[in-house]
Amino acid sequence: MKRILLSLLVPLCLSLCLSAYAADDLMSRANKLFKPIPTKAPSLKGNPATAAKLELGAKLFFDPRLSSSQLISCNTCHNVGLAGADLQETSTGHGWQKGPRNSPTVFNAVFDAAQFWDGRAKDLQTQAKGPVQAAVEMNSNPELVVKTLKSIPGYAPLFKAAFPGATDPITFDNMAKAIEVFEATLLTPNSPFDRFLKGDAAALNAKEKRGLRIFMDKGCAPCHAGTNVGGADYYPFGVRETPTTEIRPAGDTGRFMVTNTESDRYVFKAPSLRNVAVTQPYFHSGKVWKLQEAVTVMGSAQLGVKLKEGEVADTVAFLKTLTGRQPRLSYPLLPAGSDETPHPQL
Ligand code: HEM
Ligand code: HEM
Repeated sequence: MKRILLSLLVPLCLSLCLSAYAADDLMSRANKLFKPIPTKAPSLKGNPATAAKLELGAKLFFDPRLSSSQLISCNTCHNVGLAGADLQETSTGHGWQKGPRNSPTVFNAVFDAAQFWDGRAKDLQTQAKGPVQAAVEMNSNPELVVKTLKSIPGYAPLFKAAFPGATDPITFDNMAKAIEVFEATLLTPNSPFDRFLKGDAAALNAKEKRGLRIFMDKGCAPCHAGTNVGGADYYPFGVRETPTTEIRPAGDTGRFMVTNTESDRYVFKAPSLRNVAVTQPYFHSGKVWKLQEAVTVMGSAQLGVKLKEGEVADTVAFLKTLTGRQPRLSYPLLPAGSDETPHPQL
């Protein structure tokens, strides 16, 4: 009897020990490559956060009067109720115009090395001035924005409180600074993957752990690592196999348009994969709607491998664990305009 018990218990203990070791090994490997999303906004270079700046930034982010039509706010294309994105292939902006690229989520964007698919803005502050002026987005200009903001009486005390000491606090630059402070708070911590990184081995199930292993072993992680599981560097889209022209349109040469360097042709930022399961469609073209297809494309285009169906399913299961706690915000009350407020230009 004793012998039978022992013959049953020994392999059981061994397999339990081995799986505990495997989980530990996976956790320590993962901790070398990735970092959990912090719960607090990071400090911003040259733009210290204050409660007043945050309040102002939140209002500006939601205020459609930053656009010439007064219909489009940052939130139109980076909807905070839709994981900070817009669920469109490419964004629709001023006059119903279709922009050339998919709108990335603004959640956790503060941890990216640079902003936009081609990294042309070095930080969120520089970035925020772009869409306001882009003809296919908000179609405004710094003069019109400042004129509009100055004509809305409720903004004067908010800008004064946010930028104390400034003789003329309502400026285009200060608008961007306040928005940057607000955006830096749009974080999604506490995803199952973050809990796993912090030591909770049960935060991922067996399938999700297999997916994490594939993600590290097959070579996805070198391009998608760090706090944002991406967002740190640029790579050619099509390292091993050129994607179809539908997925990688010929006209958008990515970083080449920023640097004019031949080797940057079709080079794009490897985007953050945080919340990727809820920010479809995928790629800068927004042509791929299913995460499993995006993973398959990455396998062939970036790694030159045809991932098996099971491998794709496991990887997708892992990617779903990157969905964190979404910020809970209430739509801010926006100050009323005056007779001086410019009228919408459609
Ligand atoms: C990119 C913020 C307005 C569409 C971005 C990024 C940020 C951002 C932070 C870079 C994210 C990343 O690279 O991961 C803002 C703010 C806005 C605003 C603060 C208001 C001032 C809009 C509007 C639209 C839009 C109104 C749509 C009409 C896009 C698109 C990109 C982008 C298509 C990618 C463009 C590219 O990479 O070339 N936005 N956005 N954004 N946003 Fe916005
Ligand atoms: C985009 C996953 C390997 C660089 C993406 C996207 C996913 C993904 C889901 C779309 C994200 C979105 O649009 O929001 C993976 C997986 C990989 C892998 C599961 C391993 C099988 C790689 C490697 C590199 C890389 C090895 C670098 C050599 C990129 C780039 C993009 C991207 C540059 C943006 C492409 C574009 O739209 O222009 N990845 N990736 N990825 N990934 Fe990967």
